[in-house]
Amino acid sequence: MGTPAPSAYSKDRPFPARITENRLLSRAGSGKETRHLVVSIAGSGLTYKAGDSLGVQPSSRPEDVGALLGLLRATGEEPVSPAMLKLSAPITLREALTNRLALAGPTTKLVNTLSVKATDPTEKARLAALLVPGANEQLAAFLAEHEYADLLAEFPSARLTPQELVDHMRKLMPRLYSIASSSRVFPTEVHLTVAIVRYQTNGLQRSGVCSTFMADRVQAGTTPVPVFVSDSHFGPPKDPARDCIMVGPGTGIAPFRAFVQERVAVGATGRNWVFFGDQKRATDFLYEEEWLAYLERKQIARLDLAWSRDQLLKVYVQDRMRENAAELWSWIAGGAGFFVCGDAKRMAKDVDVALHAIVAEQGKMTPQEAIAYVKQMKKDDRYLRDVY
Ligand SMILES: Cc1cc2nc3c(=O)[nH]c(=O)nc-3n(C[C@H](O)[C@H](O)[C@H](O)COP(=O)(O)OP(=O)(O)OC[C@H]3O[C@@H](n4cnc5c(N)ncnc54)[C@H](O)[C@@H]3O)c2cc1C
Ligand SMILES: NC(=O)c1ccc[n+]([C@@H]2O[C@H](COP(=O)([O-])OP(=O)(O)OC[C@H]3O[C@@H](n4cnc5c(N)ncnc54)[C@H](OP(=O)(O)O)[C@@H]3O)[C@@H](O)[C@H]2O)c1
Repeated sequence: MGTPAPSAYSKDRPFPARITENRLLSRAGSGKETRHLVVSIAGSGLTYKAGDSLGVQPSSRPEDVGALLGLLRATGEEPVSPAMLKLSAPITLREALTNRLALAGPTTKLVNTLSVKATDPTEKARLAALLVPGANEQLAAFLAEHEYADLLAEFPSARLTPQELVDHMRKLMPRLYSIASSSRVFPTEVHLTVAIVRYQTNGLQRSGVCSTFMADRVQAGTTPVPVFVSDSHFGPPKDPARDCIMVGPGTGIAPFRAFVQERVAVGATGRNWVFFGDQKRATDFLYEEEWLAYLERKQIARLDLAWSRDQLLKVYVQDRMRENAAELWSWIAGGAGFFVCGDAKRMAKDVDVALHAIVAEQGKMTPQEAIAYVKQMKKDDRYLRDVY
């Protein structure tokens, strides 16, 4: 197979793709809303490898944009040139707020400006209290709970012009999603496994910009979704004869669906071992039928599952690793690749600790020797992570 011609589309010029399928993976009663999305990249010239991610440039909710326009007493047609965007010509306020700037995550600089501009003494005093030296923690907590519209609503006497507001805002950045399909099987589609972000702060319902853009605001087949492929070092073993251990709880399972599709498609002779976990087996077993079918056909050798909320005590993927330490070590000592995807803050760290412990115990190494062994696995691209 020759190298494909480069696509005309990239991060700076995303392809206007269509979502052709948007289906719930989590079942009724789940604490989560996890969706399977199929993005058509037909006609884009975009290509991808198992392990790559899809970049998605979202738009904000029209009702959130409308609320900000109301608070600014603006129509949306006002020309603005947001400092952060360094534009050569102004754009309309509505375009800036819908497609270019983030409506969440206000900065200390905005609180400073509001405190200078507020004319109401009570508002001024509240703002000043947030800015006194030593109030850093309160200020950080306040900013985390507030979006731009909340600040304009809570401090109405500090009237900002549209240009003043946009000069305090940050760029609306694209989000990355691990690709959950192999291009050998789906050359004109990209599959995604997306946890839809919905939560409350400051007594208000919030929506993650990009996950709800794809889940709620894109009409399947019609609304274009700007996308690009983000090339990654993450990917299945280059040698198809190598065994492959994949640890992917929650949406971390996404790239491993791609790895397994790919390895089955190329007839890889190395064995596959999947560790998956989520809250409850009945509602959160993402792609259950596919995994069970792979197991049945012996296309994956092992599937170890950890349901954290099906019993009193939490069971996590690293507990399943520990229970199978001897066999896991035999795979690793035999040259298997070890791959981890999902939560960076807690899961990936705990899985790393478990891996070191298993290498030390089963490989009869000192802690220092185990650290050196795992370091070498990384150097050899035998331990790769895609965590967020
Ligand atoms: C390489 C990579 C791969 C990824 N792959 C996937 C994937 O396969 N599937 C997937 O679903 N995601 C994936 N992500 C995460 C994804 O990029 C987005 O970050 C995620 O979808 C949230 O984006 P959003 O725009 O919907 O939410 P945003 O608008 O960015 O909001 C998220 C923010 O909301 C706040 N927040 C969220 N929940 C709460 C809460 N309960 N309380 C208070 N504040 C809260 C936090 O500040 C959080 O940072 C990946 C990220 C990376 C970097
Ligand atoms: N900002 C937020 O508040 C927030 C909330 C959720 C997810 N996220 C982001 O979204 C990503 C994907 O979320 P997701 O819903 O797919 O899955 P997830 O939140 O990573 O949960 C998947 C499974 O991992 C378990 N888990 C929790 N802590 C763990 C640990 N230390 N080690 C191993 N497993 C652990 C969870 O159990 P329990 O939950 O039962 O403990 C659950 O069973 C996360 O990685 C995170 O970056 C953000």
